[in-house]
Amino acid sequence: MSAAVADAVVDRLKEVPSAVLMLPTGTTPLGMYRRLVGMHRSGELSLVEATFFNLDEYLGLPPDHPASYHVYMKENFYGLIDADPARIFVPNGAAEHPEAECERYESAIREAGGTDVCVLGIGRNGHIGFNEPGAPFDSRTRVVRLSESTRRVNAGDFESESAPECAITVGMATIFESREVLLLASGTNKAAAVAAAVEGETSESVPASMLKKHPNTTLFLDEDAASDLGRGVAG
Ligand code: PGA
Repeated sequence: MSAAVADAVVDRLKEVPSAVLMLPTGTTPLGMYRRLVGMHRSGELSLVEATFFNLDEYLGLPPDHPASYHVYMKENFYGLIDADPARIFVPNGAAEHPEAECERYESAIREAGGTDVCVLGIGRNGHIGFNEPGAPFDSRTRVVRLSESTRRVNAGDFESESAPECAITVGMATIFESREVLLLASGTNKAAAVAAAVEGETSESVPASMLKKHPNTTLFLDEDAASDLGRGVAG
């Protein structure tokens, strides 16, 4: 899964070195980042002309907080490649005026010409970015409340504290406008969400189901994540 999606990203970057990428955090994309970093180190891949936007960040976390997505991206990707710092965008979860930060972020995406490739993970509840079930398909970058299940799943990143209650996420419409979407899922704990997204109804209650209407979306699944497909179990 990781090799296939890394190859897909590299193919786009070879066609368009100045591509605009929207990128996820979490456990699932780590193998993809490792491969892209490996290709950069062996001289096969430069990312110096690319532009990067992250999908989300926890509200209230300063960029140097160990559980922040700023730190995750620096440690797993941006700090290990030749990315131009002026073309790296991660929402500022510690912004004094979060609503203004969301508007600034959405404008930066627009000014970059929109995104060429959006890489997504999927939550066990079908979320994409931090667009939890119920997120309007026409939503833009905004402050959202995290579901209890997401906070539980992510609690392990927060040692003594509990996971934040809110986050800034790129919106559903912003994701939908990406010219290409690559969604990754691995493990049996994603199988039900994958089946609901692929075989269930297109519904705001399963955010990833919106992608069925997208003209250029590819799913990269390991066998475990695909194991509920074709069994008629999706609602
Ligand atoms: P994970 O997160 O890759 O850590 O499973 C995916 C997501 O919640 O979008």
